[in-house]
Amino acid sequence: MEERVLEWDYEIEGKDFRNAGKVSSKVKEIMKELGFDPDFVRGVAIASYEAEMNVVCHAEKGTLHFAILPETLRIVVQDKGPGIPDIDLAMQEGYSTAPLEIREMGFGAGMGLPNMKKNTDELDISSTVGEGTVVEMLIRTPPSKERSE
Ligand SMILES: Nc1ncnc2c1ncn2[C@@H]1O[C@H](COP(=O)(O)OP(=O)(O)OP(=O)(O)O)[C@@H](O)[C@H]1O
Ligand SMILES: [Mg+2]
Repeated sequence: MEERVLEWDYEIEGKDFRNAGKVSSKVKEIMKELGFDPDFVRGVAIASYEAEMNVVCHAEKGTLHFAILPETLRIVVQDKGPGIPDIDLAMQEGYSTAPLEIREMGFGAGMGLPNMKKNTDELDISSTVGEGTVVEMLIRTPPSKERSE
């Protein structure tokens, strides 16, 4: 069986709110071009966007790796930053350490990680305080996916 893997890597800058979201727009664009179902694309784009925004809001810089595997999509967002001391606490809806200036921009509702969980089949977070965080998300592609082109 031939196993085709398509993959892309992007850089994310911390505190760069001007370009925030662009990486996830790319992911969305790629998926649309490949003919994935719009509802499926929307969910993946939400998960990707929330992971990207967490680097922008909470870390210094990071990378997003996007891979389309035969039955799964894989998104790995890795950053250099403060890390997450208590991942279970961070996963709770409404929990946020975002400072006022970030809340004033409309972020910091504490819903990013719960939304990532909701829109993925597997969410794996590993973090080292003072070093950074790795977020890995796996999303199974819908069965009998009808790619339009
Ligand atoms: N990459 C990261 N580096 C350091 N801390 C993080 C990172 N991602 C999440 N956190 C911590 O986990 C908390 C919860 O994250 P979550 O994405 O759920 O909410 P938020 O980013 O604060 O707000 P929202 O995503 O709703 O704008 C954050 O406030 C922060 O303390
Ligand atoms: Mg967030």
